[in-house]
Amino acid sequence: MRVSAIIAAAGSGTRLGYAQPKAFVELGNLPLLYYSMRTLRGVADVVEVIVTLPPGKEADARLAAERAGLRVPLKLTQGGAERQDSVRTALALTNAGSSVVVIHDAARPFAAAGLFRACIEAAARSGGAIAAIPVADTLKKSAQSIITATVAREGLYAAQTPQAFIRDLLLAAHACASQAAPATDDACLVERIGGKVEIVPGSTLNFKITTPEDLLVARALAASDQILSGIFD
Ligand code: C5P
Repeated sequence: MRVSAIIAAAGSGTRLGYAQPKAFVELGNLPLLYYSMRTLRGVADVVEVIVTLPPGKEADARLAAERAGLRVPLKLTQGGAERQDSVRTALALTNAGSSVVVIHDAARPFAAAGLFRACIEAAARSGGAIAAIPVADTLKKSAQSIITATVAREGLYAAQTPQAFIRDLLLAAHACASQAAPATDDACLVERIGGKVEIVPGSTLNFKITTPEDLLVARALAASDQILSGIFD
């Protein structure tokens, strides 16, 4: 199977409070983007990697790929206003010979290579597949900090990336995407056109770095060889 991988790395990361765009904030002297590239190196079916970038970050992205030992062709493109725009631009650059496209957020440095493989295999079988974890907390709705309802968590999942899809299905989903209601993930676009999307068990380690506290935790994890070998292999 031939798989194109897209890494979404064009976000500004303003909530993190750094001048650097989020994908280039460092964990253990390596940019966040490096970790996804290093993991994709171990996913055999991946034949190319396309990265969406903030302006002026091409040289830094090439250096990260070199340090990650990425052996497949690397394509770089500037991201759009929303994540959905960035992915659409990257998708247009994927090789038509790929049957599956897997998309991952650079903001999740600890997605294991095995999770990528599981999503790719499930997508080839079902059309689409995403990593997700069951919601563990009790969910509350509120208005002005006062609880208005408790939401049953049964059957609710927190969606992660990687997300993998048959390439033609993902192209059709993005062709129908609306600027008025941008989707925060690709599965949502595929669901809107009636595509089947499977859930693959994700991991709490595969959290998205959003706040300064997330970065503190990520830096501690990146210092552990045990964590890194579990992710890269
Ligand atoms: O902002 P958020 O953390 O939800 O973004 C998820 C991922 O999408 C990040 O890795 C970010 O770099 C990427 N992104 C993008 N283009 C945008 C916005 C976000 O590639 N316009």
